[in-house]
Amino acid sequence: MAEKLQAPRGTFDVLPDNAALRTQLIDQIAGPLFAQAGYGRIDTPIFEDTALFARGVGESTDIVSKEMYTFTDQGDRSQTLRPEGTAPVCRAYVEHGMHKLPQPVKLWYEGPFFRQEAPQAGRYRQFFQIGAEALGSDDPALDAESIVLAARLLDGAGVTGARLRIGSLGSGPERAAYSAALKTYLRAHESELSHDVAARIDLNPLRAFDAKHEGTQAVMANAPRLLESISAEDREHFDEVLALLDAANVEYEVDTTLVRGLDYYTRTLFEFTSDKLGAQSGVGGGGRYDGLVEMLGGPATPGIGWAAGIERILAAAEAEAPQAQHPAAYIALDEGADRAAAFALLLKLREVHGLAAQIELAGRSMKGQLKAASRVGAKSLVIFGGGRGQYDAAVKNLTTGEQIELDGLTAGDYYDRIAERVLAGIKV
Ligand code: HAM
Repeated sequence: MAEKLQAPRGTFDVLPDNAALRTQLIDQIAGPLFAQAGYGRIDTPIFEDTALFARGVGESTDIVSKEMYTFTDQGDRSQTLRPEGTAPVCRAYVEHGMHKLPQPVKLWYEGPFFRQEAPQAGRYRQFFQIGAEALGSDDPALDAESIVLAARLLDGAGVTGARLRIGSLGSGPERAAYSAALKTYLRAHESELSHDVAARIDLNPLRAFDAKHEGTQAVMANAPRLLESISAEDREHFDEVLALLDAANVEYEVDTTLVRGLDYYTRTLFEFTSDKLGAQSGVGGGGRYDGLVEMLGGPATPGIGWAAGIERILAAAEAEAPQAQHPAAYIALDEGADRAAAFALLLKLREVHGLAAQIELAGRSMKGQLKAASRVGAKSLVIFGGGRGQYDAAVKNLTTGEQIELDGLTAGDYYDRIAERVLAGIKV
């Protein structure tokens, strides 16, 4: 026997029940929320030039330094499967001259992303995100609107008890001064830090706040806090975001140690976690990235956004698959049935009457067909054959058990007569 093939490690197939949940989340919960808030949908390519992520997400991040699926294409170009959506959206904003549109430009997306992380529950190598980006304004109300959208999405999806932590990374000279002070502090405690953190003091000192290593955590407990050294202007911006969240009844905790694994963030930073998720508790997160568009070669343009993991939303919500559509009719074929007439009726029910309808396709006995019909929740059974005339049929209402024989039917009227009975059965 040939070797059994499996989905690659860290990936999964989305089977129909789960697909129905995802469609519901996107079409019925996320889509209407985004439309109400003036967000338009954007889809960017699944792969991009590697330089976009190297520059945009940052060389020092885990994502860029260890987790990207990068390949060289036939033209010797380095390409990367997108690990996140913010840098691609900013690239598209510049490429399509969206800075000339009325600002802010609000965009949302949904689709697969790729990171070569160690797979575990809730952490995959191909995962799906819903994300929102708003570019071209640094108004704190845009931050609040974006965060409220994320909160409402989680609510709408049934994620109860999600915790929102929020901080500000500040910007400009205050942030640079803080970074220098933190580096000095970390160097003074270098021997107590994990190798990883010690090796990245210069590249990314803030990540030390995120370390799981005990010694590092002890050092960080007394480290200077960025939120205490941001400029008055950034503090005011942050306070206004918080006031607007209060007004929207969105609960949050200000976290002075919050950091995220992407380099582009400035000012507002936030993360939603859920206790229902175990170790991978981050259900969504985002922040401002006021320097990113310029870094990618565009005009200086502020921006804010977030992304939430679809698998994690569904896991935290413990959502149940929506019921599949119950067919109005299941067409059963008894001995001697005119299969062509039955098939033609099937298509008429679907295409003329707009009904969900199924026909027997596995050669089951009549008993088996009745079972199959009730398994799919059919409301009626239409039976051809079994000694009936060519176009004659019985219509059995599977709710009441009532069965009616329609005979004397002709090629010209049988569709309508049978459909009439099926429709009458639905109304019962
Ligand atoms: P992120 O925090 O890296 O941010 O990812 C956002 C969400 O995607 C996470 O909270 C998590 O739910 C989900 N996620 C990330 N990695 C995995 C994984 N390996 N398996 C399953 N789910 C995962 C970003 O990607 C930013 N682009 C968000 C953003 C938008 N910031 C500003 N705008």
